[in-house]
Amino acid sequence: MENKELVEKALEARSAAYTPYSGFRVGAALLCADGTVYGGCNIENAAFGPSCCAERTAFFKAVSEGKREFSAIAIVGGPAGKEPEDFCPPCGVCRQVMMEFCDPERFRIVLGKGDLSFREYTLKELLPLGFAGDGVERKE
Ligand code: THU
Repeated sequence: MENKELVEKALEARSAAYTPYSGFRVGAALLCADGTVYGGCNIENAAFGPSCCAERTAFFKAVSEGKREFSAIAIVGGPAGKEPEDFCPPCGVCRQVMMEFCDPERFRIVLGKGDLSFREYTLKELLPLGFAGDGVERKE
């Protein structure tokens, strides 16, 4: 799928953002290896801590439906009431979640804006020397 189309899907997903406490609305579109796309938005909470970023919403939706292989994610974000005018890079926690499921040299992170312009990075570029759990015992 073209990056531009993935950015459009992230913009669509952003429309469901629940952001009463920040007014900063984020959308993500996660492209699975099988071609399916999962949207995600940020979902905030009055207790702040339980809030979830758009990227993790998309990942957890996909993984909970059995997906384990991913090609790319598009991310858009910005203040409510207008289309995103700046790029919105993923937070460190979301980069670590990507590290769990994605090949850092191949997984593409596409940052988009409302005008559908975008920049593409690999996960390795945005999370150099990421922790992949090498040496952590796996039980299954
Ligand atoms: N947020 C995301 O959803 N993704 C990001 O990559 C950066 C931040 C959310 C968290 C919070 O709901 C709001 O944006 C402001 O930080």
